[in-house]
Amino acid sequence: MKVRKAVIPAAGLGTRMLPITKSMPKEMLPIVDRPVIHYVVEEAIKAGIEDILIITGKGKRAIEDYFDRSFELEYYLRERGKLGELKQVEEIGEMVDIYYVRQKKPLGLGDAILHAEKHVNGEPLAVLLGDDIIMSEKPGIKQLIEVAERKDAPVVGVEEVPWKFVSRYGIVEGEPVSRNLYRIRDMVEKPSPSEAPSNIAIIGRYVLPPEIFEFLKRTPPGKGGEIQLTDALRELLKEQDMFAKVVSGRRYDVGSHVGFIRANLEISLSREDLREEVINLMERVIREVQNE
Ligand code: G1P
Repeated sequence: MKVRKAVIPAAGLGTRMLPITKSMPKEMLPIVDRPVIHYVVEEAIKAGIEDILIITGKGKRAIEDYFDRSFELEYYLRERGKLGELKQVEEIGEMVDIYYVRQKKPLGLGDAILHAEKHVNGEPLAVLLGDDIIMSEKPGIKQLIEVAERKDAPVVGVEEVPWKFVSRYGIVEGEPVSRNLYRIRDMVEKPSPSEAPSNIAIIGRYVLPPEIFEFLKRTPPGKGGEIQLTDALRELLKEQDMFAKVVSGRRYDVGSHVGFIRANLEISLSREDLREEVINLMERVIREVQNE
């Protein structure tokens, strides 16, 4: 299995981050000075992906504009000698081949991915959800691709989460096969803590075979009345071995308030140009809050 193509579903309504997402795609929320989706695209590129399909929907045009060239802006920056900024803007427009397809109705993640069938054209695909930013030395999706290629099998990225949060995720039941790797026995979408077979949660990274599309077509609406990717994977599991890889690195759930704030703090701390000022700022804020 050779994985060249990635699909980034970005059609979700972003209800967890309302009201900002009323007029702004959640994928465009800023983490320091880049939108969330920039980090996700960068992860795919660093993993060697050559072709990215973004599934958009209503109100998502800002995503296309972001990755497009902006000749007026480039002209303006060049005229004023702002060459550092110019380079940054030009680089975004040249990152990788990005294609778009629109999901007309928000029928769920499974339905969004189904929109990729034509573009993917019989190849295996990497799927990266924009709710999760993963910062790690080896890109998160690369860690999955390596396992998928070695085992010639689908792989989902997982992480242990506190039991009280299992109902936010797809949860896998797996048997350990080596360090940080499970063979999946079963999976269930957003179970209550009492129903969950474990606290091993699917984070938004998958490597899937092209057969997934046939399974998605047969998947009836599940949790929340939506076509769930987890339900289609559960059926695929009956025919193929499937693995869950514990992804190493730091994961930020930027679709949640605290995850979003944490991503901004930690990613700014990882930047040379901001680190010192941000540490000073955090210290000052804490001191001030304690003295109130
Ligand atoms: C989706 C998947 C879920 C997975 C999660 C990871 O849910 O359906 O299985 O655990 O992404 O972020 P969503 O967050 O889109 O509701």
